Amino acid sequence: MSSGKLKFFVGLNTGYVTHGHPDERYIEFYRRRSSPALHCAIIGNVVIPGGFGSNTKTPTLSHTPVWTTVASAIKEQGTLPGIQLATTWEGYIGSKSFRPSTAHETIDRSRQVVRQLGSKKITSILGSLDDATNIALDAGFRHLQIHAAHGYLFNLLIDHRLNENAAEVRSQLARWAMRLTAVHVETSIRISLRSGDEHFDANGRDLFYEQIAGLPFDFIDVSSGFYNINKQLIYPGRPDLLRARRAETIALACRFPSRRFILSGRALLASQQDLPSNLHIGLCRDLIANPNYLADTKKGCVNSGKCHYFSRGTDQLTCAQWTDEP
Ligand SMILES: Cc1cc2nc3c(=O)[nH]c(=O)nc-3n(C[C@H](O)[C@H](O)[C@H](O)COP(=O)(O)O)c2cc1C
Ligand code: SF4
Repeated sequence: MSSGKLKFFVGLNTGYVTHGHPDERYIEFYRRRSSPALHCAIIGNVVIPGGFGSNTKTPTLSHTPVWTTVASAIKEQGTLPGIQLATTWEGYIGSKSFRPSTAHETIDRSRQVVRQLGSKKITSILGSLDDATNIALDAGFRHLQIHAAHGYLFNLLIDHRLNENAAEVRSQLARWAMRLTAVHVETSIRISLRSGDEHFDANGRDLFYEQIAGLPFDFIDVSSGFYNINKQLIYPGRPDLLRARRAETIALACRFPSRRFILSGRALLASQQDLPSNLHIGLCRDLIANPNYLADTKKGCVNSGKCHYFSRGTDQLTCAQWTDEP
């Protein structure tokens, strides 16, 4: 493997949440997977105060000391504690189906959600993001990520195809990132390469990428898919989908060589020599399946799909490959 590639544990909703807070299983899950070989663990899908979760098992950030315990557990093992800040909106319902048949309705509904929120409410959501930022910093997180992928609210707000005032939101996020850089905190934004709706994806993607690459985040964490359009793009399993995501991420990194990107989608299986130097490694399922994956890459995810607990109607992460924990 080529040296100089940073490894990230990318966003993951574990469901290890009791009364809206991370519980002991959550802390142990991240403790076991953190090590000096892992640059940063970005705990996934944490709802900003006053925000809305994507399901009932998404934790909301608060002043509760457990967040400090999570950050400390990661840091003590030699990994930078990171957090992905997210929200959906009132009335959001995540689809259980992997490919709901209503793609165009989801796009129309996304535009409607933004219009109905209006500029006052959007300003207040960005205010909540600032509150979340202060809480996360106090708790000890040192990499903060905006979850602007998967059709969640920040995704809609930053995309000119969904929000006519997206430029203003992006400017505010640029100021947010600069504020954190000034205090030596790493930043990233997670985006989706595609929504999964062919018509939507056919127009304006290149401009969108250019707009995101123009923002002063330390990393652009590249995902794909809208949750309510095509989940196969979010966690690709089929070889053709994995190849396509990899190729599109590499093309993006090559197009903007002065920016740093994170590749995910069984990223360590990709030939490291083919990866541009500004593209770093994001891991998820291989690290779920084997907490020691970075030391023993022969044993990883076998693509059984069992970890998609929400779609399968259960409420917490399980993986048959990983047997030494709950
Ligand atoms: C069970 C599960 C939950 C996930 N939850 C999140 C999440 O909360 N936020 C996010 O950005 N991505 C989430 N993802 C997507 C992963 O971050 C990752 O991009 C995807 O699984 C592809 O990487 P991999 O092949 O290394 O697993 C989740 C993936 C899985 C399998
Ligand atoms: S449950 Fe299956 S798909 Fe999920 S991490 Fe484990 S082996 Fe991989």
